[in-house]
Amino acid sequence: MKQYTTTLGVNIDHVATLRQARRTPYPDFAGAIEAVERAGADGVTMHLREDRRHVQDADVYAAREKITTHLNLEMAPTDEMLNIALDVRPDYCCLVPEKREELTTEGGLDVAAHAGRIGDICAALGEAGVLVSLFIEPAPQVIDRAAALGAPIVELHTGEYALAEGGGQRRQLRRIEAAAAHAASAGLQPNAGHGLHRGNVRAIAAIAAVAELNIGHSIVADAVFCGLEEAVRRMRAAMRGNGG
Ligand code: PXP
Repeated sequence: MKQYTTTLGVNIDHVATLRQARRTPYPDFAGAIEAVERAGADGVTMHLREDRRHVQDADVYAAREKITTHLNLEMAPTDEMLNIALDVRPDYCCLVPEKREELTTEGGLDVAAHAGRIGDICAALGEAGVLVSLFIEPAPQVIDRAAALGAPIVELHTGEYALAEGGGQRRQLRRIEAAAAHAASAGLQPNAGHGLHRGNVRAIAAIAAVAELNIGHSIVADAVFCGLEEAVRRMRAAMRGNGG
């Protein structure tokens, strides 16, 4: 197994989900940024959805001021979101597909169908000094299309791996391993995420080529019982193979 080098971006969308459920000022979103950074997060991730169901525009602007690690803004490849990203200037911008009715991001970007738009957004963000990542299925042909669009990073969707069990999960793991190696050999930085929790994260964190994991829901769920800082520490330990 590789030496532990995989970094952790903590997605704090669901701190905002809890706040928006009642439109209360708590839980404090800025306080969550401080807590995850104190606990050793390498970056902070948030998804500004078109329906604003959790993170709000003001959260993203405040986060830009507050974050001392890196801000990874997830967003749909739309003109509205591009304008916000050009204004906020996150360190990283992860383009994701978005459907209003979905519970969470369901699949990777269709980079073939939307190549023109995605390519234009990659170019505009790249010129502004924002590192773009494309959230895609872990498949070689999708990685090659992503590379052709000029994004320096791909985030490999681990959702199918997370949902599978037994032999099916081992097959999904091999698919992600092969995709990460393929992305790295194409000169892309392979990140990964979605559906990861302390019980399934180790095998993904151990993939040699994987640079960063973005994990949110399970960390916030653990925080209900042990607090956000401890939840981040437990996730980091699970990534290293301690205490899944
Ligand atoms: N990566 C991307 C691109 C996502 O859209 C999400 C969900 O917002 C995540 C990672 C984190 O997924 P989870 O909340 O299941 O850890």
